[in-house]
Amino acid sequence: MNSKRIVIAGGSGFIGHALAQEFSAQNFEVVILTRTPRARADNVREVEWDGKHIGEWIQNLDGAEAVINLTGKNINCPHTPENLDAIIASRVDSVVAIAAACEHVKTPPRVWVQASAVGFYGDTENNFATEISPVGNDALAKICGQWEDAFNHAAAPKTRKVALRIGFVLGRDGGALPVLSKLTKWFLGGAVGSGRQYISWIHLADLVQMFVSVVKRDKLIGTFNAVAPDAVRNTDFMRELRRALHRPWCPPAPEFAVRFGSWLMKSEASLALISQRCTPEKFLEVEFQFQFPQLRGALENLCREK
Ligand SMILES: NC(=O)c1ccc[n+]([C@@H]2O[C@H](COP(=O)([O-])OP(=O)(O)OC[C@H]3O[C@@H](n4cnc5c(N)ncnc54)[C@H](OP(=O)(O)O)[C@@H]3O)[C@@H](O)[C@H]2O)c1
Repeated sequence: MNSKRIVIAGGSGFIGHALAQEFSAQNFEVVILTRTPRARADNVREVEWDGKHIGEWIQNLDGAEAVINLTGKNINCPHTPENLDAIIASRVDSVVAIAAACEHVKTPPRVWVQASAVGFYGDTENNFATEISPVGNDALAKICGQWEDAFNHAAAPKTRKVALRIGFVLGRDGGALPVLSKLTKWFLGGAVGSGRQYISWIHLADLVQMFVSVVKRDKLIGTFNAVAPDAVRNTDFMRELRRALHRPWCPPAPEFAVRFGSWLMKSEASLALISQRCTPEKFLEVEFQFQFPQLRGALENLCREK
């Protein structure tokens, strides 16, 4: 019997790499849509697309079990007007292209899983954000709102649609944790800004299983917060990271130092300064089993020497 096909658009990056490994291990045929395809040693196939227009790549969606869309310019850059435009365009254009592909193929994918982000809620301060909380009003929230609007308006009547609002993904080999860990090892791992802002994090292994669940379970539909149930304040996050890395104390980093450091590192200070206190209400309702529900266990797992 032919194995079921999963197409991962924007699958060449941090999350896509982990998803490709997991779905391959589960005997799915995995196809990655990328602007720069490479030959690979494993059995994952990379196919060229431009993230904007339909082309030959759409054949891969015909009869696919799922399309997962992770495409988007990385937000870890200065949020200048030009960069914000590129961040939004890369996300909306890819959604529109996939919607057009679903219309063109004979048998569209059974499910479309679309990445979004908890940035949707803006700065939540001390309030909890669940899936029914409204969109925020900072630049990233507006971008997430437009990204999800494009997805919600995509006409794909034969395809079950799921959006995952992803939190700060903790992984060993990508995302922001390796950078934070390096700074902490250099004794630069103190609380950031006031330290009171919440971080909604998720271990990469749990995020991967969330994608697997929504692909496999036909009843899961709509928008889900993809975060651990244990959002923590920045000060507690940094303390747990120092503990995992055996650094008992580091000086706190006041806001001006964070802004200067972000400028030096060509990053964006607001990413570290705003509060995102989100709960995974819908995953808890469907009794999703977290492997790493608590931050301490997640960081001990990821910071352990290989
Ligand atoms: N990592 C996190 O903590 C986190 C948190 C919340 C939400 N998310 C969302 O989850 C998705 C995947 O995250 P990730 O960490 O895996 O990101 P990533 O490593 O930056 O990968 C994203 C992929 O998007 C493609 N891409 C980048 N710019 C593009 C452009 N202008 N046009 C078309 N394609 C472009 C790239 O593929 P090619 O260069 O191969 O074409 C890249 O590999 C993103 O949408 C991100 O916003 C991630």
